Amino acid sequence: MKIMALILAAGKGTRMKSSKTKVMHEVNGIPMIGKIDSILTKSGIEEKLYILGHKKEDILLKYSDFSYVVQEEQLGTAHAVMVARGRITCDIDNVLILCGDTPLIREETINKIIGNHISNNSSVTILTTEFDNPFGYGRIVKNDKNNVIAIVEEQEADNETKKIKEINTGIYCFKREKLLEALENIDNNNSKGEYYLTDAIAYLSKKNEIIQSINVENNIEVMGINTKVELEIATRELRERKNIELMQNGVILIDKNTVYIEENVIIDEDTIIYPNVTIIGNTEIGKNCKILSNSRIENSIIKDNVKIDASVIEDSIIDDGVTMGPFAHLRPKSELGKNVHIGNFVEVKKSKLEDGVKAGHLTYIGDAVIGEKTNIGAGTITCNYDGKNKFQTKIGKNVFVGSNTKFVAPVNIENNVYIGAGSTITKDVNENSLAISREKQVEIKNWVLRKQSK
Ligand code: UD1
Ligand code: CA
Repeated sequence: MKIMALILAAGKGTRMKSSKTKVMHEVNGIPMIGKIDSILTKSGIEEKLYILGHKKEDILLKYSDFSYVVQEEQLGTAHAVMVARGRITCDIDNVLILCGDTPLIREETINKIIGNHISNNSSVTILTTEFDNPFGYGRIVKNDKNNVIAIVEEQEADNETKKIKEINTGIYCFKREKLLEALENIDNNNSKGEYYLTDAIAYLSKKNEIIQSINVENNIEVMGINTKVELEIATRELRERKNIELMQNGVILIDKNTVYIEENVIIDEDTIIYPNVTIIGNTEIGKNCKILSNSRIENSIIKDNVKIDASVIEDSIIDDGVTMGPFAHLRPKSELGKNVHIGNFVEVKKSKLEDGVKAGHLTYIGDAVIGEKTNIGAGTITCNYDGKNKFQTKIGKNVFVGSNTKFVAPVNIENNVYIGAGSTITKDVNENSLAISREKQVEIKNWVLRKQSK
């Protein structure tokens, strides 16, 4: 049985009040449409076809591999499917239709609709739910044998129909040939002048086709996201699911309600995440790490046994056993080797610190490479920028950099060097040397006494 999914996503989403098209808004760090795509892929749907219209370029920029058709004018949900007609080829047995703005649907629910649809040999299977306030949704109308006979849209409903609480979620599975036949027979003779896909149901009912409805118990799954208020609710729901999944896989969350861990983040066993931590983008964290409060980690790779305290890490790589913070900042393209320690108020940018490097306090390391076991004293600064260009600082292995040193790049310090505290290093330093550049200290005897006697 071959199934094709049609994802309707041509609409603008006016209520979002945004310059961005609706389905590109992110839910827990992933655009709605991307979330739906990954659910469909996981449920094993062989073919997906997107109906795009409004700002399709923005969608295709990120999802260039999407198969799609363009619905230039949005004349209704049935019209959207009609646009795709030529692509619903004879090898396809069933068509699953859903909307691009329902990212909370679960893989299990998709599998359930498809499974039931096939095992009951239905012409159409509709996913429905009940809302206390069904306003705005299509109502599921049943006959006295409890068979679905129609879906009636809000605008077309009389007062009796409006009282029906069972609604159409907009997710259905059709037999291909029944869908195509029904589409031929849908007009736009209604109050909105639109081609309603929901009219397919009354048509198929009159033909005595098997129409089945499946109720989704947890109705948040079928919530359509139309506003930024709903966007926040959806993010909260997905965040909750993500946190639970992480804990089930062995991660410890001290307080799941205050951590923000986006959809694509991977975390390994026994890592502990403290309250108020944000982990975003394509981040991977290994085993037995401790991520303490007020840290933000973005698009980075962190290996095992790392401790991060109240620090910010962006687009960087951190090896085993690193300790960092509080208040350290790794800016993009930085790499910390095994057991590196960077402490309070240390900023690292586009630099590589080899295994065992230590920079405990108040330091800026930019565009630098620092060899194994080198110790960087407090207040060390790489002067990497002359106002126009950036220059490199190279420091070898086992170097001891005294406090308050300035390296005026480009400069190269070989292995096993000592730099005297307070030096401004402008020239390269050879292996095994001591380099020191600072004013000689003067002492004027009894200067204070003379000053006081005046
Ligand atoms: C639709 C259903 C309604 C159901 C509700 C569930 C119809 C006529 N009504 O109503 O029964 O209860 O969804 O949320 O189908 N779209 C296109 N092209 C179009 C029109 C719509 O791609 O020409 C897309 C939209 O971008 C959106 C989806 O289809 O993703 C649903 O369209 P929308 O206008 O929101 O339908 P509803 O009025 O909510
Ligand atoms: Ca809608």
